[in-house]
Amino acid sequence: MADFFTPTEIAAAATAVRRHTNQQPTVGLILGSGLSSLAEAVTNPDIIHSSDIPHWPVSTVAGHHGRLIIGGLEGKTVLVLQGRSHYYEGLSTRQITLPVRVMHALGVKTLIVTNAAGGINAQFTPGDLMLIKDHINFLGMAGNNPLRGPNDDAVGPRFPDMTEPYDRGLRQLAQQTAVANGFAVQEGVYAYVAGPSYETPAELRFLRMVGADAVGMSTVPSVVVARHAGMRVLGVSTITNMAIPDPIPGTTLTHEEVLETGKRVIPLLMALLSGVVRQL
Ligand code: HPA
Repeated sequence: MADFFTPTEIAAAATAVRRHTNQQPTVGLILGSGLSSLAEAVTNPDIIHSSDIPHWPVSTVAGHHGRLIIGGLEGKTVLVLQGRSHYYEGLSTRQITLPVRVMHALGVKTLIVTNAAGGINAQFTPGDLMLIKDHINFLGMAGNNPLRGPNDDAVGPRFPDMTEPYDRGLRQLAQQTAVANGFAVQEGVYAYVAGPSYETPAELRFLRMVGADAVGMSTVPSVVVARHAGMRVLGVSTITNMAIPDPIPGTTLTHEEVLETGKRVIPLLMALLSGVVRQL
């Protein structure tokens, strides 16, 4: 498979989605590990299996179903991506961001992304929600930006601005929604790493030093592509575990623990996301 998608290939994927639905989504939601059940709140869902869409990346991780759900949520028409694919699965950053290109082609203007992340900031506790206010794109900075390759000027500029990748207004809306629902949310910087191995103590010391509050293996390529296309972005991390360089001896980190904590906060995340979507 070619490393880069042509506008024609992106259009073909969007056409395949349109063939399965008459609904016109304006909000896209990408849900991370253990958070897939949020999709169950969507009314009048048109469900599309990602295997029915040409070029669509196929997710192989436990807890990630590869489906698109288009339907109603809080008075808006949303497209929920249930299960995403990751760079560590062997796909390119272009491939894993095709869904965002397709969302843009379908008319989505606002992207809401959730993920599971390790908490680096010592003030955090597992189960906290963190609004992403900025990110460090380690893959991108090292030469693997999803925008690498030919630029489609009809979608966005060759050198897109990244001064405010995560929309201030959406973050304020999320803060207010959390307060109205009786809980607090953290804010912080998300460091994007390739995975799939979790970080070593030295890597975690490094991440802490460069100003990361949380670390995870997703989201950022999607956000870069969304911003390139001019979409507004809200990113929310569930802090599923503490990613600290000096854990209690004998403690290890497993994907099961990440999924378990993710499940525990679904009600809060649900309240947060539906509150934000309602007020868009
Ligand atoms: N590191 C990287 N990715 C993660 C983590 C972590 O500790 N927890 C959940 N996703």
